[in-house]
Amino acid sequence: MEYWEQRYQTHDTPWEKGAPSPGLVDFLATHRDLAGETVCVPGCGTGHDVREWAKTGFRAYGYDIAPGAVRLGTDWTRAAGLRAEFRRADFLRDEPPFPFDWLFEHTLFCAIQLEERDLYTRAVLRWLKPGGHFLSVNYLIPDKDGPPFGTTRDELWERFTPYFQLKAEWVPRSYPNRTGLELMLWWRRRPR
Ligand SMILES: C[S@@+](CC[C@H](N)C(=O)[O-])C[C@H]1O[C@@H](n2cnc3c(N)ncnc32)[C@H](O)[C@@H]1O
Repeated sequence: MEYWEQRYQTHDTPWEKGAPSPGLVDFLATHRDLAGETVCVPGCGTGHDVREWAKTGFRAYGYDIAPGAVRLGTDWTRAAGLRAEFRRADFLRDEPPFPFDWLFEHTLFCAIQLEERDLYTRAVLRWLKPGGHFLSVNYLIPDKDGPPFGTTRDELWERFTPYFQLKAEWVPRSYPNRTGLELMLWWRRRPR
């Protein structure tokens, strides 16, 4: 069994907070005018963030490499009476079904191996439309023996500024054990 699926099967999922990212909740509460567009949530886990986008009126799609996460995401979304699509996909290597208007990052970048980060950047460019929005909740921890693996604002800046223009950055409201460790970045992909 693959690493991530095993973690779901053995209930070893400390990232599972039973609620969407507080930073995302606050962002969507103040940007309801953007509803109606498509959003891709890679590494969506059980889908709390996907449901928050769907509740706000976005056409929301969650992708995860672990079939167990996709199953829970689908079941919990149906139980909540919401519409969103969940599919199994390797975000780093697979092709998107279509290019998305929005891409939301939350604890996938810190979950992949450090040597996969270039693949991650290329995947964001493959899954997102030119001119699309890339909203990320970044986990600024020092850890090098993850997952989770940490990052810095400097690394993110160097990695994404060649392709994106920063619209805003802020320290969001966080889950209690991540307070002060998260940074949200709202990027707009440069048109080709
Ligand atoms: C730390 S968990 C975070 C889950 C969710 N974002 C959350 O915050 O609850 C990382 C998730 O990424 C998924 N994942 C890891 N590598 C992936 C890949 N290459 N493509 C898609 N999903 C992946 C894992 O199965 C897991 O559900």
